[in-house]
Amino acid sequence: MEYFATTSKASKRASDCVLVGVYERNKLGAGAADIDAASKGELKRLAKSGDVSGSLGRVAVLTNVPGVRAQRVVVVGLGKSSKFGATQFRKAVAAAIRAVSKTKSGQIFNCLTLERVGGVSKYYLARHSAEAIGDVLYLFNETKSGRKKTGMPLKKVGCAVAERGDVANAMLGAKHGDAVNAGVSLAKDLGNLPPNICTPSYLARAAQKLARGNNKLAAKIINETEMKRLGMHSLLSVTAGASEPAKLIVLQYKGNGKAAPVVLVGKGVTFDSGGISLKPGAAMDEMKFDMCGAAGVIGTMATVAALKLPINVNAVIPAVENIPGSNATVPGDIVKSMSGKMIEILNTDAEGRLILCDALTYSRRFKPAAIIDVATLTGACVIALGKHHAGLLSTSDKLANSMLTAGLASGDRAWRLPLGDDYAEQLKSNFADFANIGGRDAGTITAGCFLAKFTEGMQWAHLDIAGTAWTTGSKKGATGRPVPMLSELLLERAGALP
Ligand code: BES
Ligand code: ZN
Ligand code: MN
Repeated sequence: MEYFATTSKASKRASDCVLVGVYERNKLGAGAADIDAASKGELKRLAKSGDVSGSLGRVAVLTNVPGVRAQRVVVVGLGKSSKFGATQFRKAVAAAIRAVSKTKSGQIFNCLTLERVGGVSKYYLARHSAEAIGDVLYLFNETKSGRKKTGMPLKKVGCAVAERGDVANAMLGAKHGDAVNAGVSLAKDLGNLPPNICTPSYLARAAQKLARGNNKLAAKIINETEMKRLGMHSLLSVTAGASEPAKLIVLQYKGNGKAAPVVLVGKGVTFDSGGISLKPGAAMDEMKFDMCGAAGVIGTMATVAALKLPINVNAVIPAVENIPGSNATVPGDIVKSMSGKMIEILNTDAEGRLILCDALTYSRRFKPAAIIDVATLTGACVIALGKHHAGLLSTSDKLANSMLTAGLASGDRAWRLPLGDDYAEQLKSNFADFANIGGRDAGTITAGCFLAKFTEGMQWAHLDIAGTAWTTGSKKGATGRPVPMLSELLLERAGALP
């Protein structure tokens, strides 16, 4: 996508579409007011007659508006002006783009960025616009036959600002948004692919392919023989029933010499049947999304690499299938993790933590400045937070707060849950050092407590994205989260935000 920012007036710019907004009670936004003046009151008339609505997300596409150089005026409802925030802004842009996508427009001039949005800078308005556009334009076609839907022909997006001084920030926002989109699309693609295509080996090849395109990025794939040598028996216990070989994928992005890296660890269970503790059949297909932690981490690496950020970031991705078989791990098995800690596996469906713990231990060699694991870890997190906030658990207030802030700024939010000894006690085992499950109560927290046993001495946070990584129902598909939040965090750590 090509982006530009300009101080041109809404009515004066030639384009396939100009996007403007109207608030409730027929209050015209800045771009709409300009169009209304140029067309001698056309928008006010249409608002009065109800052809143009201020209710959030309602769209009218007008053609041949007098005094306007653009071919179409796309008027989107912005809702109550007192409630207009970043979320409403994104919804409005997305709704407008959905309407534009039904036309054959190749260019749009977005004047919604002229609005005053409480506490949100022009940089973020341009970035939210680019990201909302990326979301609407995303198309997953790979696994359909016959004539495929083609994407919309949109090539060029202009962003209106009122002052010259805002042009550079708006351009930077669009550039960053475009790079976040690249990461989000990659994460969505990997998530949406079926489990018979997106195997651990496929994820490994995807990481290698990403590294091939960037000289600051290197990929290394660790196979099962090496894992055995490293003592990763917890990780290996999960793949024991599978015929697909497990892979430990390591990506290293070097943008800042010898500085301590941020390490991102992503759960890559390419299919989670539950193993011998087999899951019920309903919606089991959705367990193809159990690699969305891995996808989010690979996607974030793509964003960081696209922006050539001056930081070091590593990704460590344990990729496995969790499938029953004659060699599969059974409940009651006890395994020795890479850290030396002995784990009693009481439920083979609590497999995410079993692969993550060895990946976390492996990551110690990088002496991380911070380590964040991302995982579709617990159904309990979906019960607690639904599909809106990711669960955040951390032993570092500083890291946790920076992630909460990044979540708010990027619109990819998390909510912190506690950790602590009283919860960790639920993991006690009569036979090993601890068990891999802690009972029904506080399932997301006990999973966090399990991981915390492997992260002592590190600045660590865990993101449970079980609720946020994909949507169900008629719009079933991966969301690309938490690429926006992690990208925001890394942009901030790289000092790349205005
Ligand atoms: N991948 C699942 C978690 C999950 C379930 C994510 C449903 C999204 C929707 C994970 O491996 C799992 O099965 N967790 C178990 C843990 C339990 C056995 C302690 C769960 O949440 O039921
Ligand atoms: Zn799982
Ligand atoms: Mn499971």
